[in-house]
Amino acid sequence: MKILLTGKNGQIGWELAHALAPLGEVIAFDRGGLDLAVPDQIVGAVRSVRPDVLVNAAAYTAVDRAESEPDAAHAVNAAAVAVLAEEAKRVHALLIHFSTDYVFDGAKDTPYVEEDRPYPINVYGRSKLAGEQAIRSIDGPHLILRTSWVYATRGRNFFLTIRRLLREKEEVRVVSDQMGAPTSAQALADATAELLGRHSAAGLGDAGGVYHVTARGYTSWHGFATEIARLELPDLPNPPRIVPIASDQYRSAARRPRNSRLSNEKLLRTFGVELPRWEACLAALHERLPRGAHLDVGTPYRR
Ligand SMILES: NC(=O)c1ccc[n+]([C@@H]2O[C@H](COP(=O)([O-])OP(=O)(O)OC[C@H]3O[C@@H](n4cnc5c(N)ncnc54)[C@H](OP(=O)(O)O)[C@@H]3O)[C@@H](O)[C@H]2O)c1
Repeated sequence: MKILLTGKNGQIGWELAHALAPLGEVIAFDRGGLDLAVPDQIVGAVRSVRPDVLVNAAAYTAVDRAESEPDAAHAVNAAAVAVLAEEAKRVHALLIHFSTDYVFDGAKDTPYVEEDRPYPINVYGRSKLAGEQAIRSIDGPHLILRTSWVYATRGRNFFLTIRRLLREKEEVRVVSDQMGAPTSAQALADATAELLGRHSAAGLGDAGGVYHVTARGYTSWHGFATEIARLELPDLPNPPRIVPIASDQYRSAARRPRNSRLSNEKLLRTFGVELPRWEACLAALHERLPRGAHLDVGTPYRR
């Protein structure tokens, strides 16, 4: 199986490059090798590689910055995705694309299912929804995997930020009224590889569509921070207080949904695949890290 992967240096892309390797030949691009903002580069890359599977892990992911850069977000998350979908269809490749809980407004009281009507409340969410709609209307074989609250030992994410603040502050204030499933990039990449390994590109294409794929269980950002602190406690000389705050006490450019919970039942029912609980994924990541190490962007660790 020949797999073209975009965004190989991102949180999910980096994990995918490793997780997908046993399945075949992975031809992975970073932005330097394939800039999604340049449609001709997409066309050139897909037509020269002619993959069986095209995995798009690249995206404009700066949620707050997107509020002042809507065109840049739309170019990568929607216009480029339309070109990727057209080109994948042209070479009969399965397109696996990642999307987000931020396509929803968060007003629902229970976990969102795939049939729920999206209603994004920020620019990033609108750009991601436009990407999903482009894929569906082009209608080649595709899987759209919506995930949430992704973290890894690289990139910019809540896990690394809290880990640093725990060492620097006496008090850390964390939003407690947004609920979701923290999802480790590794668990998500492993689940993606499991889907492909168990069902083949053709099998996945036959059951194509939108799927919610997150770690099991839910918590708040405050609950997530508290669990990170519990795991880090042996390394913390003076553990700070972790104070719950409401969303409106935390100023940010983009609004976020209060309810980011995504039901994974369709994924389990259709493909027999489910991720571990979020606490187990976090503990697994923590186990692999050097004790007490301060992590910077791109800190290497063994998979
Ligand atoms: N992070 C989350 O919490 C979260 C939640 C739900 C869904 N998702 C989705 O999951 C997917 C992967 O997210 P992630 O967390 O792995 O993001 P990430 O760490 O920000 O990685 C995104 C990658 O995309 C690349 N990229 C950005 N613009 C590009 C362009 N014009 N051409 C080529 N590459 C470009 C970036 O390259 P540079 O390094 O050069 O910038 C980066 O390596 C995205 O579709 C995202 O929407 C993420």
